[in-house]
Amino acid sequence: MNIVKSVLFSPEVIAQRVKELGAEITSDYKDKEVLFLGILKGAFLFMSDLCRYVDVKMEFDFMEVSSYSGGTYSTGQVRILKDIDTNIEDKNILIVEDIVDNGLTLDYLVNYIKVRQPRSLKICALLDKRAHRKVLLKIDYIGFDCPDEFVLGYGLDYGEFYRNLPFIGVLNEEFISYPKNVL
Ligand code: PRP
Repeated sequence: MNIVKSVLFSPEVIAQRVKELGAEITSDYKDKEVLFLGILKGAFLFMSDLCRYVDVKMEFDFMEVSSYSGGTYSTGQVRILKDIDTNIEDKNILIVEDIVDNGLTLDYLVNYIKVRQPRSLKICALLDKRAHRKVLLKIDYIGFDCPDEFVLGYGLDYGEFYRNLPFIGVLNEEFISYPKNVL
């Protein structure tokens, strides 16, 4: 039995879209400096690929957050595991996320960052999964619309594993009830 039911976005499709996003970001930030703020852990692969297609002067920082979850979905009660190292006041910030689901994590992050008075704040998300969105969010750059499925690979995990899959796939739900040691 395979952990992946079907491949949603192949490595080639992802690479092409990441390249397009990079070109768009390059054009929008022309003659500006930008700080890529990656949200760990899921965004690490996307961000490292994306930045190589962005031809502007940039710096990097990371936040790691964890959402208190009572079940499958986050609750919006976000705990910061790693905070920003940089003073972001008066900087152009681009948040880089792997997936936006109900949106509560990003809503929290946007408010958290806005208080620190950046010059501008935009959001780039590889996957926009809108089926369970609970807050209104403006996502400036979207890689792909994501169906209402549990997806994994290319940074996204299932139980902290499978982030290294080179594609984004749909979880085979038969695995959900399997004990962890047989995955
Ligand atoms: C994922 C994703 C977002 C959040 C989105 O992170 O990277 O940060 O969930 O969910 P929401 O829109 O429903 O709030 P996760 O908590 O799985 O951590 P990870 O990136 O370390 O895998």
